[in-house]
Amino acid sequence: MSHQSAVLASQGVAPWQFSAPAVTHTHSENLSDLTSKLLHMRDEEQRRLARELHDSVGQLLAAMSMNLSILAREKALSKLAERAMAENAALLAQISSEIRTISHLLHPPLLDEIGLASGLRLYLEGFAERSHMRVDLELADDFGRLSRDMETALFRIVQECMTNVHRHSKSATAAIRLTRSAVEVCLEVADAGKGIPQEKIKEIQSGKTYGVGLRGMRERIRQLGGRLEIRSSCKGTIVAVQLPMEQLLGEVENAA
Ligand SMILES: Nc1ncnc2c1ncn2[C@@H]1O[C@H](COP(=O)(O)OP(=O)(O)O)[C@@H](O)[C@H]1O
Ligand SMILES: [Mg+2]
Repeated sequence: MSHQSAVLASQGVAPWQFSAPAVTHTHSENLSDLTSKLLHMRDEEQRRLARELHDSVGQLLAAMSMNLSILAREKALSKLAERAMAENAALLAQISSEIRTISHLLHPPLLDEIGLASGLRLYLEGFAERSHMRVDLELADDFGRLSRDMETALFRIVQECMTNVHRHSKSATAAIRLTRSAVEVCLEVADAGKGIPQEKIKEIQSGKTYGVGLRGMRERIRQLGGRLEIRSSCKGTIVAVQLPMEQLLGEVENAA
């Protein structure tokens, strides 16, 4: 039992659980495949946009900033022009910083190069700063690398969970735990917020209306042959994900 689960249990919380049901219906399968393809396309598109913003717009802004500092050194500027220059420099710095944030949110800086562990650390640092929440990350220094699909999926899942925690839970803290063994990767995102409302739980359990975020999460997990479990009570919510290591998924598929 994880630390957060233990805390919830010690508070007498009886969590409800939800595991993604096996999809059997052909129509649902087609819909799931389509959702997976759309998610994949969105990942690629965001990856491209993030790079474009960072490499092209970011470079142009840097060039503008250099030009501005040359102009700012001009002696012959009127007081008014000097003030306008200083204002422009501040605005430019703000635009650069916003572009960087947007680009990082679209696709974490160099996720493909630096890997999930470093990508998550950077993202969660930024998240804690922006949201003023206390964010604890439990992640081994030697976590290592996973396939690009797994890393993207896990990163997107953490991002969606954190957005949900921030938007819906009213929790002041969040705890993220990522571990791996020879057979699987486990992710847990826990908050100490107000929990998912009963009527939402019913909707989710009946598979009727699934929020876009949770639906996307479920699809990503399904595609990788994993399991999703959401435990929620008035003391908080825990999203737990288990993904099998890919070579094992391959073995299961070959055996089937
Ligand atoms: N950590 C959380 N704490 C409280 N409520 C949550 C949490 N995560 C999700 N929810 C509830 O579940 C619903 C579905 O979430 P989601 O699928 O991400 O859709 P969205 O965030 O777009 O509303 C949310 O609208 C919210 O009511
Ligand atoms: Mg959401």
